[in-house]
Amino acid sequence: MPLVCRPWRLWHRATRFIIGSRKASWRRYILLAAFVVILIIIYLLIESYPRSIMSLVRNHPPESVFRCGGDGGGKVRGPTGNATFHPHLPPPRSPENKLRDDPKVLVFTETQYSKTGKDIANILVANRINYKTEVLGRSLPGLTNLSRGKYGAVIFENFDRYLQLDPWNRELLDKYLKDYSVGMVGFMPVREDTRVGTKMKGLPLYIHTNMALKNVSLNSDNPLLHLTRAGGTIVGPVLNSDWTTFTIEDPTYIPIEWAYPSLTDFSEERQNTVVLDQGQLDGIPRVLFGANLEFWLHRLLFLDALSYLSLGRIPLALDRYILVDIDDIFVARKGIRMTTDDVMALLESQRRLQEMVPGWRFNLGFSGKYYQRGYPEENDGDKMLLDHVEDFWWFGHMWGHTQPHELTQDELEIQMQLNKEFAINHDIPTDSGYSIAPHHSGVYPVHEPLYTAWKKVWNVRVTSSEEYPHLYPARLRRGFIHRNIMVLPRLTCGLFTHTVFIDKYPGGRKVLDDSIHGGELFQSIVYNPISIYMTHLSNYGNDRLALYTFESVVKFVKCWTNLKLQTVPPLQLAEQYFHRFPDEADPIWGNPCADHRHMQIWAKEKSCDQLPKFLVIGPQKTGTTALYTFLAMHPAILANYPSPETFEEVQFFNGKNYYKGIDWYMKFFPVPANSSAKFLFEKSATYFEGDVVPRRVRALLPAAKLVITIISPSKRAYSWYHHMRAHSDHTALLYSFHQVITASDTAPRAVRSLRNKCLVPGMYARHIERWLNHFPSSQINIIDGEELRSDPVYVMNDLQRFLGIQPFYNYTEHLRFDKRKGFFCQVVGEDRTKCLGRGKGRIYPSMNESDVKYLKEFYQPYNIALEKLLTKLDYPVPSWLEEDLQ
Ligand code: A3P
Repeated sequence: MPLVCRPWRLWHRATRFIIGSRKASWRRYILLAAFVVILIIIYLLIESYPRSIMSLVRNHPPESVFRCGGDGGGKVRGPTGNATFHPHLPPPRSPENKLRDDPKVLVFTETQYSKTGKDIANILVANRINYKTEVLGRSLPGLTNLSRGKYGAVIFENFDRYLQLDPWNRELLDKYLKDYSVGMVGFMPVREDTRVGTKMKGLPLYIHTNMALKNVSLNSDNPLLHLTRAGGTIVGPVLNSDWTTFTIEDPTYIPIEWAYPSLTDFSEERQNTVVLDQGQLDGIPRVLFGANLEFWLHRLLFLDALSYLSLGRIPLALDRYILVDIDDIFVARKGIRMTTDDVMALLESQRRLQEMVPGWRFNLGFSGKYYQRGYPEENDGDKMLLDHVEDFWWFGHMWGHTQPHELTQDELEIQMQLNKEFAINHDIPTDSGYSIAPHHSGVYPVHEPLYTAWKKVWNVRVTSSEEYPHLYPARLRRGFIHRNIMVLPRLTCGLFTHTVFIDKYPGGRKVLDDSIHGGELFQSIVYNPISIYMTHLSNYGNDRLALYTFESVVKFVKCWTNLKLQTVPPLQLAEQYFHRFPDEADPIWGNPCADHRHMQIWAKEKSCDQLPKFLVIGPQKTGTTALYTFLAMHPAILANYPSPETFEEVQFFNGKNYYKGIDWYMKFFPVPANSSAKFLFEKSATYFEGDVVPRRVRALLPAAKLVITIISPSKRAYSWYHHMRAHSDHTALLYSFHQVITASDTAPRAVRSLRNKCLVPGMYARHIERWLNHFPSSQINIIDGEELRSDPVYVMNDLQRFLGIQPFYNYTEHLRFDKRKGFFCQVVGEDRTKCLGRGKGRIYPSMNESDVKYLKEFYQPYNIALEKLLTKLDYPVPSWLEEDLQ
């Protein structure tokens, strides 16, 4: 029977199955017809269900009704709505610049875990303000360094502690504050007892505690307001009843914020809740807060206070760049996409936002595959978006919604090319230089094929991700540059693909409104000079929550701050970002296995087992090659594959190789499935003294053990010099050892460079301390290089124990002293050994006496510090160190 007849046969069999026989009764035919009708009805019901929801709820999308100084959704009203912008008036102090260039903030906290202390730290981190926290003890921390002040402002989490300081510390701190023109912020503590009109020790202030307050507003006429604008009255009760209020007894004190008691049994008079002491009485300006930083307005005033009290040396810029991406513009299931009405609303909202934020434009990321995949009215919406192509900015998302880390470079290129063709066919611009990846996959942790394909197909120069260095906490998200693609930190605004109806907002509408009116979203604009937000197609259909959210938050920002908002395209945004934060350009590669989310967007075939478990970090010329060779003899240990450029060393963490990324690094180690050795390691002897190296190693290999070898620093310097001569280094051949080590800072550059390489690694204590800032001492093993030379079996046995390596390898049988070489070598036969090459254990004349003396003196302070450090860490003091110190 031909194939075309098959459907008919199937139908025939099905009817026979239901009906039973060829001679079917008419009843059975009716039954069959009813069955088919029911199926059709079920299908139609399923199809039309989301539409009915849509048409029901779409009648009432929320509107942004917030009016500054009016009775809007933000519950703000009052006479101060027209408050004017106050640049800080110069306080009555001399801004002599005796502070260090980038002063920190000194924070005195009650304990390491106290709530306000943490809030203070979080705000400082979010605003990239350097700080030091100190739990107040008997003595104060050092306030100056080489007679320059370290701190631009001092904060007391509990102002009582300042008032209770013992006279000696109080005098010391006050003197610092006066001499360096630095002011203080103090928070009033929550008290058990209620006090009414208690005098504050030494200040012209009376306090009332345990107050319940309502209707907070700002005094628009005060010199503190810079970022903060007096936006009106916040109607209703604020926080809890823990407020302290101040009665001012001196005209040089100015109220900043005030409120009314909410319990009428106290008084109906307005109470001062934040006050400014201009410092005219004792030379120390102070800002005192009657409640902590839980109240959003206090967070703004706090930033203003720091800037004011430090005379602007803790800067507070007012420019804010903000860009809203609509990712996946055609990606959403039927029923929650955009209709033509939604598109009109989007255009209208964009126009209103443009009036408030110069340059505002929504940035649309498209996935062409999903174009026209909705109901007819939604497909009309898609078409209308393309009719208005010129009203928006556009960027190519992925063709499908696949995660890049699951694709090869070829697959990625095909996907991107399809999307590009779609763009060209629909007159969508393709030159924005921006793109993003679904679920941030491939951006960080870096999937190199994505970067390659992006560059090749779209010439991408900017992307954004919320994953660097981690999703949480959001305030720590930062940018970086990889392979000339600028990655911006991506912020969320509380809207996700599934948050489409205000009534169903997780936790209720109040959660979203609180975030807008002073909460998380509002603060993210205040704290981040450059913000790029992520939203989705579904947030613009349905209840159009994104329009509501952004219009509301922009109004709120304009009401309560003097921030100058503007929008620029992604490329300009990224340039601004790295111009402002140049230190962030350098990435710090983290360990993907330490972050559950990173593991989900890391290619399946990758594994952290392909990363080393320990590193031999140097320094050079202390026996590191011997150690490397001896380690590699162990059956359970495997060294990295050699590098064509740097031979046995990978030199990843210290130089340009680091920018090649961790995929590059991992290629130096076998895939775990292909190797039985459990302990991978690498030796790069220049890691030891590299400034950035400990931080980088800690980020990628937090559990790694580190092995350091040290010999007399003078001997090391001399060995290095001869190493350079043996490699025909021009400068080493031209200048004597004496000339090199005694070269001054005016000597030719090449000589200075050689001098530094000779001398700097031998400042052992300084470098070890730096490693100890990032690793616990239990992860570091310091080997006496002289002992490695004279008794390698002992050293290797000890090292095996430190590394916890099984099975134990008996080096006695595998190392033998070779008289000809003058060193221990690997046993390769009964009478045969394999020694290190000619470059190790070189023969050269001994150092002359004057150089020995010079170096002994040069290294003395470093050697004293080393001796102390080794003793502290429980190591025996090597005999060469004792000699050097004689
Ligand atoms: P010299 O060549 O100046 O004698 P590195 O491998 O870190 O560059 O260190 C080289 C130094 O290792 C050599 O310096 C040598 O003194 C020392 N060394 C220690 N044990 C050795 C061994 N078994 N074979 C060769 N050199 C060894």
